[in-house]
Amino acid sequence: MARLKLAVLISGRGSNLQALIEACRDPAYPAEIVLVLANEPDALGLERAKAANIPTRVVDHRNFSDRPAFEAALTTAIEAAGARLVCLAGFMRLLGEGFVRRWRDRLINIHPSLLPAFRGLHTHERALAAGVRVAGCTVHFVRENTDQGPIIVQAAVPVLPGDDVGRLAARVLVQEHVVYPLAVRLIAEGRVTIVAERVVIADARTPAGALVNPGPEL
Ligand code: GRF
Repeated sequence: MARLKLAVLISGRGSNLQALIEACRDPAYPAEIVLVLANEPDALGLERAKAANIPTRVVDHRNFSDRPAFEAALTTAIEAAGARLVCLAGFMRLLGEGFVRRWRDRLINIHPSLLPAFRGLHTHERALAAGVRVAGCTVHFVRENTDQGPIIVQAAVPVLPGDDVGRLAARVLVQEHVVYPLAVRLIAEGRVTIVAERVVIADARTPAGALVNPGPEL
């Protein structure tokens, strides 16, 4: 079966991109990355893509007069690469209505909290300040409102005594690298549908389709 073609949009480090690159190395994985697109010319993730022989593009938002023009350039690059699913992986620009509509149900994001808690930036600081016992991450479809949209997969981690932002972020990141390739695989296998703005996953092997710390084998 043809592999689902992915465009991965990044702004920086690209560790989630790296997790997707590793997943795609497996010939049995049902997706492939056809484009890594960065808005920051010096994004470290571009080097990761080049090392894996994946085509890269820089679309620098500073070169556009307004957001619609920037986003039109993103769409042009994504379409030219033939991508059918757009994966935001640490892409630090807010996306407007036009782009979100163009890629509706074909645009996903990873966020380092258990949404709908802690939308926006500085999630780990806020989780620590709130004293939550459990933190985590979420892969979700993108809608017009930031960090909202149907949730595909989440993973939880404990908040431990003595945690600081760095320790908690690192613990969450380990799970990000599990759930992002998993969510992409579920979509690529055609097992994800959205019903009344909730994600339904077909044929989940775990009891009741449990998606709490699922590991890669759901
Ligand atoms: C991750 O924590 C992701 O959840 C958030 O931005 C960070 C990107 O990290 N959206 P990386 O660039 O994938 O390493």
